[in-house]
Amino acid sequence: MTLTTEQRQQLVNQAIQVRLRAYAPYSNYQVGAALLTKSGEIFTGVNVENAAYGETICAERSAVVSAVSAGERQFAAIAVATHNGGTPCGSCRQVLSEFGLDIEVLLADEQGNLLQQTTVRELLPGAFQGRDLEE
Ligand code: THU
Repeated sequence: MTLTTEQRQQLVNQAIQVRLRAYAPYSNYQVGAALLTKSGEIFTGVNVENAAYGETICAERSAVVSAVSAGERQFAAIAVATHNGGTPCGSCRQVLSEFGLDIEVLLADEQGNLLQQTTVRELLPGAFQGRDLEE
């Protein structure tokens, strides 16, 4: 699914907005994500840290969990906003890959500059998928 420049900017703007709600008292690295469904809805997520560091959930995965909880599984794109345009971690790449290798991934800084436009396929070559579990 090809997005218009306006749709991309709108998604980035939502990621920037929601980033302000990140709970990141330990790393102080706030992340916001906005996930666009193929039906045109946007679900957002932030990173939620924990004193037990390993229990932290990333922004991308919290957006996916929110969308799937609302019954959505078809995704067109995800925008991720950080102060420096940081890239999704391996766990988030893997979780996104469950729902499609062609999901567009937009990486933006806090000023709204779109620093990288890529796909899950590019970010996670050779993804482990459900078909790998087939006999
Ligand atoms: N983080 C994300 O939210 N998404 C990523 O893909 C990379 C890392 C968060 C986790 C932690 O709260 C902070 O960024 C620093 O690692």
